[in-house]
Amino acid sequence: MKKLIDYYIDMDEKAEEALKKGQYLGKGHNGIVYLLPDNKIMKIFIEPKVCLDEYYIFKNVSTSKYFPKTYKHGDYYIIRDYVGGERLDYYIIREGMDRNISINLIKLIKEFKRLNFKRLDIRCKDIYVQEDKSLMVIDPKNSYSKEVIYPRHLMKGLNKIGALEEFLYVVKEEESEYYNLWNHRIRRYLDKNIK
Ligand SMILES: Nc1ncnc2c1ncn2[C@@H]1O[C@H](COP(=O)(O)OP(=O)(O)O)[C@@H](O)[C@H]1O
Ligand SMILES: [Mg+2]
Repeated sequence: MKKLIDYYIDMDEKAEEALKKGQYLGKGHNGIVYLLPDNKIMKIFIEPKVCLDEYYIFKNVSTSKYFPKTYKHGDYYIIRDYVGGERLDYYIIREGMDRNISINLIKLIKEFKRLNFKRLDIRCKDIYVQEDKSLMVIDPKNSYSKEVIYPRHLMKGLNKIGALEEFLYVVKEEESEYYNLWNHRIRRYLDKNIK
């Protein structure tokens, strides 16, 4: 409780009131997330540097439909829209991989390029599938700081749930340029790391 009171000092009255009515949603390595009454969430960070870096990413992607809208931030918190739907890997395990999802994943990586991300990668757990099969990213990391030229974590995650071959099949059909690089790199990576 003491820690929370410290965080309140960082907030204006409105944010503090909203948090008091908030419900725990989840946590990760960097913070803890509460659902606020108006379908927004508040992510409270352990490190202000991580908070600022993440806020910077969200500010830069404000034109993108793939990310929740961000409203407000302090040194230790960010308020943004709640993202419903289901985690990508859980969705695929339940429903199976399908062509629409693969196409939307390719579009998502294209969107990362459009946004000038250096890291063209994202983990399955940070993508949520919406009812119309569109995708939303809840937790982008190192987007502008770490150079990653192909979606390794994404494909590694798809491989784990048996969806990689179907994904690469669609990549080959839709974006042969991506296919050459992605296929070559992920095979090499899996060969080295799994056997
Ligand atoms: N915008 C959001 N909408 C719904 N749930 C969210 C949202 N952001 C985070 N969460 C939930 O909170 C958890 C932790 O948030 P996350 O941003 O991944 O924190 P960390 O940076 O510590 O990994 C997520 O795994 C998810 O369950
Ligand atoms: Mg996370």
